[in-house]
Amino acid sequence: MKAPSTATPLQRTLWEQLEVSHLPAHVAIIMDGNGRWAKQRGLSRVKGHKAGVQAIRSALDTVLELGIGNITLFAFSTENWTRPPLEVSVLMTLLRQFMRIELPRLMDKGIRMRALGDVSRLPKAIQNGIARVETETEKNIRLHFNIALNYGGRNEILHATRSIMADGLNPDKLTETIFEQHLYTCEIPDPDLLIRTSGEFRISNFLLWQMAYTELYFTDVLWPDFDVEQMLRALLDFQGRVRRFGGVHGD
Ligand code: IPE
Ligand code: IPE
Ligand code: MG
Repeated sequence: MKAPSTATPLQRTLWEQLEVSHLPAHVAIIMDGNGRWAKQRGLSRVKGHKAGVQAIRSALDTVLELGIGNITLFAFSTENWTRPPLEVSVLMTLLRQFMRIELPRLMDKGIRMRALGDVSRLPKAIQNGIARVETETEKNIRLHFNIALNYGGRNEILHATRSIMADGLNPDKLTETIFEQHLYTCEIPDPDLLIRTSGEFRISNFLLWQMAYTELYFTDVLWPDFDVEQMLRALLDFQGRVRRFGGVHGD
């Protein structure tokens, strides 16, 4: 792929190795390591989360430049409520600010944002902010940006099951396709690539159903340090994978 004119010489060599025909249609990211990034610098965790927001902007810009159509970022899990109340409240404030500050940029860049998860448990002001961004960006088609908020894979599966039962569907009629239509991710393709930063090798309740055949990429880099170069490296690694989906090896 041709590198953008702003690329550094190192980024340029990475861009040039990427094959445009072989990019993932959907990248999902577990953005982890904000706290450790801050600790390493003797800063508060709040500063780590603020730096994490900057890394979100950079990730969106990079996938846009590459022409990747879908990105899903894990921003707050159903388990993250167990953090100290002060940290939870800082994260909520950052989220509210994000919805306000980011809207004009998303519009400028043609990005559609959707929240995945049980947003009804979030503070009302944030729910309103999310609803506004979702509505205003609804017609944007360059990039589908999904932000997982109060999201848990198990919770999502239960939510889907409840809604199918409430519809009174005959159990014999239930198919995978119908089930998927009841997930938060209906209309979004399964992720081709999952990236997790900060050296943890786990899924932490993210997209459990959808990741059945996703390629997994783990890096030690902490989320605030995950820049263009890191994204390109993850994509190059992905391009070296052979995906079989349970079939036989091509050649
Ligand atoms: C990821 O960074 C951000 C959220 C989960 C909201 P962490 O806050 O988990 O950072 P570490 O894992 O403590 O370093
Ligand atoms: C996963 O990170 C959740 C998000 C990135 C929002 P955590 O830091 O919460 O995950 P664990 O606790 O290390 O598994
Ligand atoms: Mg963490």
